[in-house]
Amino acid sequence: MSKKEKVYIFDTTLRDGEQVPGCQLNTDEKVEIAIDLEDLGVDIIEAGFPISSPGDFNSVVEISKNVKRPIICALSRALVDDINMAHVSLKNAQRKRLHTGIGASDIHIKHKFNSTREKILDQAVAAVKYARKYFDDIEFYPEDAGRADTDFLALMVEKVINAGATVINIADTTGYNLPEMYGNKIKNLFNKVPNIDKAIVSVHCHNDLGLATANSLSGLQNGARQVEGTINGIGERAGNTSIEEIVMALKAHPNLNLSTDIDTKKIIKLSKKVSKLMNMPVQRNKAIVGANAFAHSSGIHQDGFLKNRDNYEIINPEDVGLDSSSIDLTARSGRAALKHRLSLLGYAFSKIELETIYVKFIELADKKKLLHDEDLTQLVKEKNV
Ligand code: KIV
Ligand code: ZN
Repeated sequence: MSKKEKVYIFDTTLRDGEQVPGCQLNTDEKVEIAIDLEDLGVDIIEAGFPISSPGDFNSVVEISKNVKRPIICALSRALVDDINMAHVSLKNAQRKRLHTGIGASDIHIKHKFNSTREKILDQAVAAVKYARKYFDDIEFYPEDAGRADTDFLALMVEKVINAGATVINIADTTGYNLPEMYGNKIKNLFNKVPNIDKAIVSVHCHNDLGLATANSLSGLQNGARQVEGTINGIGERAGNTSIEEIVMALKAHPNLNLSTDIDTKKIIKLSKKVSKLMNMPVQRNKAIVGANAFAHSSGIHQDGFLKNRDNYEIINPEDVGLDSSSIDLTARSGRAALKHRLSLLGYAFSKIELETIYVKFIELADKKKLLHDEDLTQLVKEKNV
């Protein structure tokens, strides 16, 4: 098999993720997460939107001082003052990137900017040209690219690349796209934009229809080589693409021939830290990092899993930093799971003894939602088996 192509991981937990009400972090907390993101292996950290507040400015400054390997990126609008502020905030960064852009859909052009396509194009090009004064690495986002006219989007991309943009971020700002639509959007850029080979195409998807990960993967399958997202998928409204989902999807599907530099064993620990510091619980059934992601609860699944984990697991829990999978003992559990848990507690019973305990186990499990080891020990004692 040919060598895998690298997908760059652009983390925006501290910018798009932190925009969520209630998720705000102070500078020390942001630096702590940024250091962990560096350790996780992300390639780019979007550290903030410096012109938005003194706190955000300061966070970009401190992250730039404390994080050395990844590129540190600051967000701006296509405005001189924003770009100046981003430049100053990044002065200590070892490797820096500006992320600038402007609305590309007719909805944004008309109802957000009350402008025209021509004027917006001029502003986009002028911003990138201005930014070249300070930056070699310039990422441009046509905002709401997900709903932009195909030909206009291609023209905008061509012009900003000519002006000096090195990364093009196709933002599905409203999470409107379906996977095939979004993939075709990326493919179209490779077919229509003559200078597209001068830039890396990035995917930035929101999860309004629950499709952020699927859309991002579709973009990657159509030529994008950078993916933007957040830990735990936090972000505006229904959130951003979950970095952990993308990374594990690429690992679970080696035939895609795409890989990342993420140290997957560090995923769970960072997920927990982000959840705690941002005060944002992770839903139990969230892919990869939810409490139930590696828990087996129905009798049929438990039996199959105990025979061979491959029957019901596509990811090894150790790969994301968990000690093991778990078998939840509930009224839906079968004899195989009960026998297994009893054996871990040091008990070995005959078939008939196990049957007696199983009947009592089900009675108790119908009353209590989840049974623990103490419950089993008590059952064994009470039944005197
Ligand atoms: O969703 C979006 O359009 C954004 C841009 C600032 C990239 O977050
Ligand atoms: Zn976004």
